[in-house]
Amino acid sequence: MSSETKRRLSRLRRRLRQRLGVAFRGPQLDILLSALDKRAGLVREPSCEDYLRWIEPGDRFDKEVEHLLPWVTNHESFFYRHAEQVATFRRVSLEPFLSESRGRPFRVWSAGCAHGEEPYTIAIEIVEALDREPRWPIEILATDLDPQAIDRARRGLYDARAVRALPRRFLGRYFLAEPRGLRIAPSLSERVTFEPHNLLSETPRPEGPFDVIFCRNVLIYFGAAEVNRALDHLVSQLVPGGILMLGPVESLRGRLEDLSSSLQIELDGEVAYYRRRVSGSQAEGRRRGSGGSSEVSDIEQLVVTDRLSEALGRLEAAIARQPRSAEHRLLRSSVFRRLGRYEAGARDCVAVIRDHPLHAEAHRCLSELRTRQGRWDEAMAFSRRTLYLDPEDASAWLLFGDLLEHRRDFQAATRAWMNAHELLECASGRETLPERRRVVLDLLASCQDRLRPDRSRRASDGRALS
Ligand SMILES: C[S@@+](CC[C@H](N)C(=O)[O-])C[C@H]1O[C@@H](n2cnc3c(N)ncnc32)[C@H](O)[C@@H]1O
Repeated sequence: MSSETKRRLSRLRRRLRQRLGVAFRGPQLDILLSALDKRAGLVREPSCEDYLRWIEPGDRFDKEVEHLLPWVTNHESFFYRHAEQVATFRRVSLEPFLSESRGRPFRVWSAGCAHGEEPYTIAIEIVEALDREPRWPIEILATDLDPQAIDRARRGLYDARAVRALPRRFLGRYFLAEPRGLRIAPSLSERVTFEPHNLLSETPRPEGPFDVIFCRNVLIYFGAAEVNRALDHLVSQLVPGGILMLGPVESLRGRLEDLSSSLQIELDGEVAYYRRRVSGSQAEGRRRGSGGSSEVSDIEQLVVTDRLSEALGRLEAAIARQPRSAEHRLLRSSVFRRLGRYEAGARDCVAVIRDHPLHAEAHRCLSELRTRQGRWDEAMAFSRRTLYLDPEDASAWLLFGDLLEHRRDFQAATRAWMNAHELLECASGRETLPERRRVVLDLLASCQDRLRPDRSRRASDGRALS
């Protein structure tokens, strides 16, 4: 590619990023290049280079973007995708709303709705909850950047793949079998309004506020600045107390501090979602310790030098004075673990989680203790939550990998250990305090040990792992 073409390509990427939010790096860039090739053929430009030159004028770019959209955006979706989240939506939003019967419509927005599978799933849930009461006022707005996707959603015609996770009993109730596929029944389609809409630049029509906003698997493709813009916009469209559902891998952790005056994270079993605060005064902020008090460091010193009963005595006194101190309780839990008193250690973690439900470290410590007790399912659940709350916790990835290995999911275990490895390598470069650096290097060594090829061979041979 000539340097001129490279410049054109980066201009195009910049303009697309402004328009769509997508940064087009790595695999996304390959998708873009293949779209450019296809489009060049269709407009009879001999090559991708020629097409890049041809597309440059402003008005042509605006028109061409519409044609590129279906190729450069991922419309993957299906009915009852992330079914646990759908159940959470029912439990924490729909049912409480209906039981309080607030005398106003229940309003939901599905932002980035692709071909309509998500908003129709929501519609099924609502209609079922209403026991098919036709008059109850509900409004479901479904929007997507791509007008062609919106047209398809309005047509409501699906193939078998789209309904693969749909509970079978809904098939006859909400779909009509046609020669070309399964068509959404009018009782459902009339409940959903579809409109083209760009999350980055426009207010949806009809406007909010909404009781629930689903924006799943959309922000994952955005650059950081665009995620921020879209989130501010989404939050502004929620009623106080309203709920934002993102995709399961779209953690807001990096943004939670900025957003903590307007949003709080909540957990329903393993599903995390965000609730708009009723008033800013409830802001919790982050609860991580800022390095620890000198008393805590003194006790840590006792632990490091194996003076465990002395440490325990000091911790008992400190906890009696400050029963809600997460730092003291977690330290005591680690002493209990060293003493093999796993249940006592777990009680401390549970107390911390009760007082500070989003304390990632408490979740990790509890997962470690449950692992030692052989309570694997609980260990796995707490490990997942830890990573949701803090995806940059290398020890948590390490532990998660071990739990996956125990489940004999060796590929996923390796991926988890690789994540830990990457985080630890970065941390070892940053860490200047010798003691902390030693901890990081120890963890790195155990990570490398797990990633040794003979370990995975042993694993797939079916022999027991340590
Ligand atoms: C992977 S689909 C997600 C569909 C559905 N939410 C789900 O989780 O199954 C992502 C959708 O986001 C849409 N999208 C991408 N950028 C957008 C933007 N800036 N504004 C609105 N929608 C956008 C895409 O067109 C695509 O249909």
